[in-house]
Amino acid sequence: MFDVRYVTGTVLALLVSSSAFGSPDLARSKNCVACHHVERKMIGPAYKAVAERYVKDEAAVAKLSEKIIKGGAGSWGQTPMPPQPNVNSAEAEILVKWILSQQ
Ligand code: HEC
Repeated sequence: MFDVRYVTGTVLALLVSSSAFGSPDLARSKNCVACHHVERKMIGPAYKAVAERYVKDEAAVAKLSEKIIKGGAGSWGQTPMPPQPNVNSAEAEILVKWILSQQ
C-alpha cells in the first residue's frame, strides 16, 4: 500500500520544482477552479483582476496567502471565499505568486 502523505509530498515537490506548469495544476488539484477562472469572474473574482489590483502591493503575497487559508469576504463583494484548509502556507504562496503573474 502507499502512504498518502508520501505521495502528496512527492507531488508537491514536483510542482515546486517545475513551477512554470505546476501552479495551474495546483489550482486545479486544490479546486480553486471551481470558483475562479483566470479571465472571467465566476463565484470568485477573475485572477487577472486580482493581479491588477495587487500587483504593486508588496504585502499582497502574505495577505492573500492568509486569506486563501482562512477565507473571508468584502474585497470583491459579499460572497465569502470559504477557508481552504487543504492548502498549506507554502502552497498558498505558490498560488498567490502565480495569480499575481496573470496579467
Ligand atoms: C467556493 C468558492 C471558492 C473557492 C473554492 C475558492 N475561492 Fe477564492 N474567492 C472566492 C470568493 C467569493 C472571493 C471574493 C472574496 C471577497 O470578496 O473578499 C475569492 C477571493 C480570492 C482571492 C482574492 C482575495 C482578496 O482579498 O482580494 C484570491 C487570491 C483567491 N480567492 C484565491 C483562491 C485560491 C488560490 C483558491 C484555491 C485554493 C480559491 N481561491 C478557492 C471564492 C472561492
